[in-house]
Amino acid sequence: MTTQDELRPTLTTEAGAPVADNQNTETAGVGGPALIQDQQLFEKLAHFNRERIPERVVHARGAAAYGTFTVTADVTPYTRAAFLSETGKQTEVFLRFSTVAGNLGSADAVRDPRGFAVKFYTEEGNYDLVGNNTPVFFIKDAVKFPDFIHTQKRDPYTGSQEADNVWDFWGLSPESTHQVTWLFGDRGIPASYRHMNGYGSHTFQWQNEAGEYFWVKYHFKTDQGIRNLSQDEANKLAGEDPDSHQRDLREAIERGEFPTWTVQVQIMPATDAAAYRFNPFDLTKVWPHADYPPVEIGRLELNRNPDNIFAEVEQSIFSPAHFVPGIGPSPDKMLQGRLFAYADAHRYRVGINADHLPVNRPHATEARTNSRDGHLYDGRHGRQKNYEPNSFGGPVQTGRPLWAATPVGGATGNHAAPTHAEDDDFVQAGNLYRLFSEDEKQRLIANLAGFIAKVSADREDIVERAIDNFRKADADYGQRLETAVRELRKQR
Ligand code: HEM
Repeated sequence: MTTQDELRPTLTTEAGAPVADNQNTETAGVGGPALIQDQQLFEKLAHFNRERIPERVVHARGAAAYGTFTVTADVTPYTRAAFLSETGKQTEVFLRFSTVAGNLGSADAVRDPRGFAVKFYTEEGNYDLVGNNTPVFFIKDAVKFPDFIHTQKRDPYTGSQEADNVWDFWGLSPESTHQVTWLFGDRGIPASYRHMNGYGSHTFQWQNEAGEYFWVKYHFKTDQGIRNLSQDEANKLAGEDPDSHQRDLREAIERGEFPTWTVQVQIMPATDAAAYRFNPFDLTKVWPHADYPPVEIGRLELNRNPDNIFAEVEQSIFSPAHFVPGIGPSPDKMLQGRLFAYADAHRYRVGINADHLPVNRPHATEARTNSRDGHLYDGRHGRQKNYEPNSFGGPVQTGRPLWAATPVGGATGNHAAPTHAEDDDFVQAGNLYRLFSEDEKQRLIANLAGFIAKVSADREDIVERAIDNFRKADADYGQRLETAVRELRKQR
């Protein structure tokens, strides 16, 4: 044995006892069956069987990094959030990028929205902004989300994503026309996670020290520049290098090329909301920049790779319900549904003590609750009392709500989202189409037609409904799409 070998630590069981042989199972005689007393073997196999946890029901495939958010403008007239309280102030962040529909091992270079989930480890607790690389979404009511995702995922019979299901749902959900136009345009397949924008997408509330409140939308503009892949480039890359985006992010950070984003907000005074030309809480719509110009408030830099992907990325949890004082929800019905869905998913996927894992717990303060125990509780509270009120010096409430109360009225009911003067499901889809260059229009039509043409030959009704939505957005859009789809279906 060399000196170096002598210095190596002893391999042990989970209980710390030395392992005598990690190559040969203990058997009854040479060539005989294994013995149940070989606990090293059984412990190793049993642990291996339990290595996986359920993957995220959406956004299963992703990559993440740590970094820093720096405030670059005075936003105290709008929010009292402590991490935004002065120019130059820095907050640690963790950002997980993802695709939506694919399973854990799927390729990165696909046409799909990208998740853009940021955890700000603030001194008032963690603030999570769980957004996408798109400013809008396919639907505007949380009750439709599971149905929508079922059409994106695998069909119960074929086990594959089916064009019939995708276009059936989108055709019957005209509010999706804006986001579908976005997705099949050039930005639908980012070249990497570094070369795309992020958006909070929903409208959120900011409240200042005086109690006044505002509606805001977040934008994270990539400083690397927008870069996209064509459908052909993506098909090739997905086949050759399924981990392309994950690798690109890790290697850029390893090289010291830290990606950055300029953070902007659109700010709407609360008093504007009722009379605004679009419902400001409708997730299928943007606020045109001419109405509310984005103003720069900060800079986000990613500069550290996680050391252990399972511990820090797979077990990371982000919740749209993780607010801090001075920031709160809007009445957007999608956001309201998400306030429930994420923590529920975390309890199932990672467990009741998920919040206390190193990546998830607050880094700039500590959690002080009377919740205790459960699976894998680590005893961190020691002898502290576990109830409130108590007279043993335990933690107490502040008496100040995190965000401003907002007026409500009318009767309960399954109400559709209210429409404002210029609202319909097509106006902004048409505006986006007309904004595209002629080249981009051609690529958009080709991308859409290639997918719609895959609908089963005997389901012309699905094709017709799908095209009709684009026709309602813009007559030229619908006409060109119809011609392209008919041509492709003739060739089938
Ligand atoms: C009502 C609509 C929605 C529901 C019910 C929903 C539900 C979920 C669930 C259950 C997860 C998995 C969470 C986990 O296991 O950790 C998830 C992940 C995610 N969702 Fe949604 N979602 C909705 C809409 C949206 C929208 C509109 C966006 C973006 C604007 C979005 C962005 C994300 C992102 C980025 C992730 C991945 C977070 C991570 O990296 O861990 N979702 N969603």
